[in-house]
Amino acid sequence: MLGPPGAGKGTYAEILSDKYNVPRIPVGDLFRQAIKDETKLGKKIKKYVSHGDLVPDEMAIDLVKERLQEDDCQNGFFLDGFPRTIIQAEAMEKFKKIDKALNFVASDRVLMSRLSGRRTCRECGAIYHVENIPPKVEGICDRCGGRLYKRSDEKPQAIKNRLRVYREKTKPVIDYFRKKGLLADIDANYRIEEVDKVISQCEKHLQNLS
Ligand code: AP5
Repeated sequence: MLGPPGAGKGTYAEILSDKYNVPRIPVGDLFRQAIKDETKLGKKIKKYVSHGDLVPDEMAIDLVKERLQEDDCQNGFFLDGFPRTIIQAEAMEKFKKIDKALNFVASDRVLMSRLSGRRTCRECGAIYHVENIPPKVEGICDRCGGRLYKRSDEKPQAIKNRLRVYREKTKPVIDYFRKKGLLADIDANYRIEEVDKVISQCEKHLQNLS
């Protein structure tokens, strides 16, 4: 699942993962968990994630490669936020086949408003928005009762940097998959009440995959 920060990759990946009964692998969440747990990796990557910079390629590749070897990924998966550089895309080809690259497209205005209001569950990673998708009880996750928080990379300066990094490093990955005939553009500008319109575009492209 490709697309700029705030396009809704995580939100749609959650819905699709439930529908297709295969796991969602949110690479950003894996990094945030490592930081929270203060693992060796977590300590190394903290500064990149909080500034909105990409984690060095070799660390991202190793993490994803290891995660995709686990049993629950053997019948398919939705990979959310990887590959984000050409180096990652080329490395991935050597260890896992990608069937389709869904490219979520949304305007800058939509991205900024979604990112500035997002709240994430500290426990299960569920995603909310203070206006668009509020939890039933303010600050508490509907799913697991965990506390909601604002990510460290959601300060205006970090958001700006993430959008810049996306344009410089990740946009070429979109062309890479387009040239391979694997890319499907998905209009992700719809409001949350119309999320079915986004999901049905995805389903159309996922139909004939084994
Ligand atoms: P990551 O966590 O992947 O962040 P991101 O790509 O910046 O994407 P986001 O999570 O911000 O947005 P999203 O598209 O998932 O949108 P969401 O569904 O939340 O990565 C974070 C960091 O980790 C990176 O900066 C980097 O440091 C590192 N990293 C990750 N992968 C890496 C890699 N491969 N290589 C190196 N480093 C890597 O939606 C946004 C908001 O909008 C939510 O509040 C949601 O509720 C709301 N919303 C969603 N859809 C709608 C809708 N249709 N209508 C209204 N509101 C909506």
